[in-house]
Amino acid sequence: MNQPKRYTVTAALPYVNGYKHIGHLAGAYLPADIYVRMLRSRGEDVVFICGSDELGTAITMQAHKENMTPQELVNKYHEISKDSFEKLGISFDIYHRTTAPIHFETAQEFFLNLYNKGLFEEKITDQYFDASIQQFLADRYIKGTCPSCGSENAYGDQCEQCGKSLDPTDLINPISVTTGQKPVLKKTKNLYLALDKYEPFLKKWLLEGKKGKWKPNTYGQSKSWIDAGLHPRSMTRDGKWGVPVPLDEYKENILYVWFDAPIGYISATKQWAIDNKKSWEPYWKDKDTKLVHFVGKDNIVFHCIIFPIMLEMHGEYILPEDVPANEFLNLEGQKMSTSRNWSLEMYEYLQDFPNNIDELRYCLIANMPENKDSDFSWKDFQTKNNSELVNNAGNFINRVFVLLHKYYNGVVPQAKGCSELELFVKNQREKITAAIENYKFREALFEVMQVTDRGNKLLTEKEPWKLYKTDPEATAIVLYDCLQLIANWTLLIEPFLPNTSKLMLEKLNIKEDLNWSQISRQDLLKPNDIISEPFHLFSRIEDAVIDNQIAKLEQKTKKVMEPKANEINVESKSNITFDDFVKNDLVVGTILESENVEKSNKLLKFKVDIGTETRTILSGVALHFKAEEMIGKQVLVLKNLAPRKIMGIESQGMILFAESEGKLLIMSPHQTAANGSSVN
Ligand code: MF3
Ligand code: ZN
Repeated sequence: MNQPKRYTVTAALPYVNGYKHIGHLAGAYLPADIYVRMLRSRGEDVVFICGSDELGTAITMQAHKENMTPQELVNKYHEISKDSFEKLGISFDIYHRTTAPIHFETAQEFFLNLYNKGLFEEKITDQYFDASIQQFLADRYIKGTCPSCGSENAYGDQCEQCGKSLDPTDLINPISVTTGQKPVLKKTKNLYLALDKYEPFLKKWLLEGKKGKWKPNTYGQSKSWIDAGLHPRSMTRDGKWGVPVPLDEYKENILYVWFDAPIGYISATKQWAIDNKKSWEPYWKDKDTKLVHFVGKDNIVFHCIIFPIMLEMHGEYILPEDVPANEFLNLEGQKMSTSRNWSLEMYEYLQDFPNNIDELRYCLIANMPENKDSDFSWKDFQTKNNSELVNNAGNFINRVFVLLHKYYNGVVPQAKGCSELELFVKNQREKITAAIENYKFREALFEVMQVTDRGNKLLTEKEPWKLYKTDPEATAIVLYDCLQLIANWTLLIEPFLPNTSKLMLEKLNIKEDLNWSQISRQDLLKPNDIISEPFHLFSRIEDAVIDNQIAKLEQKTKKVMEPKANEINVESKSNITFDDFVKNDLVVGTILESENVEKSNKLLKFKVDIGTETRTILSGVALHFKAEEMIGKQVLVLKNLAPRKIMGIESQGMILFAESEGKLLIMSPHQTAANGSSVN
C-alpha cells in the first residue's frame, strides 16, 4: 500500500481466564508497543487497541474452577491484566472489555449485517450437554478414550497421544472435563458461515496478495489451512455467557466467542473515539488506513482467515494489511504453561522487580520469538543486563557524565557537530525504522545499541582523560560528540525502553519535543546546556537474585508436579481412622531402573519391582538424587494410588520419602525385605 494516512494497530485481546505470562508479552504486546511507539515518534496518526476477551467457554469453565461467577472472574483478571500491561509500559490507547454494552451492540449489528445478506446457514447437530451445569460442552471440555490409540485422555477435538483429530462423538466413554459427569447428546440448532465459499477471495487476497510480504510463519500457516480446504463454521453457540444472538428464533444462543472477539477491536475503537472526540470510522473503513494485528501463532487462523472473511462479507471494512505473528517463548528450555506452574506471570515479575521494567523488556526483545520458538532463562536475563545494559550503554553514559562534570562542571562545551557521526546515526535510524516496519525487533534493538557501542569506541580511542592535559579543545569535541550520541540514543531507545528514555531526557535536561525525524542531529544538546550529575542508568543483577528466582520457579512447579514430596505438614493433618489407613496399599519394592525424564529437571522415572509386578513410577526428586544412585535401593511404595500421567508418562504409584530440613531421604526397611512385603 502507499504511504498510509493512519494506522490501526491491535494486539490480541487476552482471555481473562487467568494470569498472562511473559510469553504473551513477548509474543504480541511488546512488539506491538514498539511498533506503535515508533509510529507515534514519527508523528503518525495511530490508534493502539487492546482489551480483555471476556466471553465464551474458556471463561465459564475457569469460573467454575475458581468457584466464582463468570462476571467475578473477568473482573478479577481484567484488572490484573490491565494493571500489568500498564506497569510494563505497553502504551495502549484503550484497554477495553468485551463485556461492555458498546461491544454487544457492535457485535450484534455486525452479525445482523451478515444475517440480512443471507450469509448464514442453519444446521441441526447432536452435541454433548452436561446436565449438571446445564451447558453444552465445547470440544476441549470433553475427554474420553481415543478410538484410534486407546489413550484415556483424548480431548473432544484431538487426541494428544496419537495426534488424531477427533469429533467429540468419536470418543469412547466421554466425560465432562470440569465436572467429571457423563454428558448426554442433545440436538441443537446453530448458524454457520460458509467459509468454504470464500476460498477464492482468500486465494486472491492472501495467497497471491500477501506472498513474500507476510512473515513466512504467518503466510505458511494460513496457506496450509486454505490448502486443506475450509468448512462451514458455526458462529453461534448454546449458552449464556456471551453476546446474545439478536434473533427471536435464537434467543437461547450466543455468538461464538471467536466471532465477537475480533469485533472487540472495532468496539474498542468506537469507545476510544467517543472518549477522545474523534470519529472511529476512518480507522476501520478508509482505504488509506493501515490495519495491523499483532498476535501469537495460535491466533493466526482467526486473524488471517476467519476475521478477514467476516470483514469481507460485511463489505464496508478494510482488511488487515499485515498479521505479524510471533512464535512461543519458552522458560528455561521448557514450554511455558500456567496450569503446570511452569511460567513467569507478568504480575509475578512486577512484584519482584518493580523497578526493572526496561530490563525485562530488553531481554524479551533481544530474545523475541520472531521466527521460531525462543527461550527466556534467568541466567541469560542476568547476562544481558550486566553485559549489555550495564556495560555497554550504562557505563558509557556514566563515563561521559563523569568527564563532563570533571572538566566542564556539567556544562556542554563549545563545539561543532561531527558530520561523520551524523551520517552514522542517520544510517542507524534508517536501519532501525526498516527493521521495525518489517517486525524485526531483535535486529532493531541491536542496531540501537550500536550507537552507544560506537560511543564507547570513541572514548577508548581518544582517551579524553589523557587528552585533556595536552589538548583541552580536542577533549571538548570528544565529549560534545559523545553527548550527541547519548541524546540520539535516548530518542532511538524510546520505543524499546521507554522508562530509560524518559529518565535520560531528564538527565540531559532536554525539554524540546523531539521526534524520530530529528534523530541524527548533532546539536540535540547545545553548548552551555547543563547536564545532571553522573549516575548509573542500570545496575548489575547479582547471582543471588537469579538463584532465588530459579529456586522459586522450581518450588512453584513442584507444587503441581509432585504434591507429595514437599507438602508433608504433620501438624495440620487431622485424625483418621484405622479403616482410613488400611486403604493405603503400602509395599516394599526395589528400584530396578532409574533415569531422568527428558525436558524435566525435576522428574526421575523408576522401574520398581513390587513383588507381583514391575511398576513405572515418576517422582519429582531429581534435584535431590542422581538417577544412578537410586538403582538397587529398596523403597516404600504406595501401590494403589490412582495412576496419572505426568509429562506424557503414566506413573503407577508413588514412592515415599521423608523430608528432613529440606533434604529428602529414602524410606527403606531396616533390613532387606522381600519385594511386595506389605507395610502396615
Ligand atoms: N482471547 C484470545 C486468546 O487469548 C485472543 C483473541 S484475539 C481477538 O488467545 F481479538 F480476536 F479477540
Ligand atoms: Zn489417540
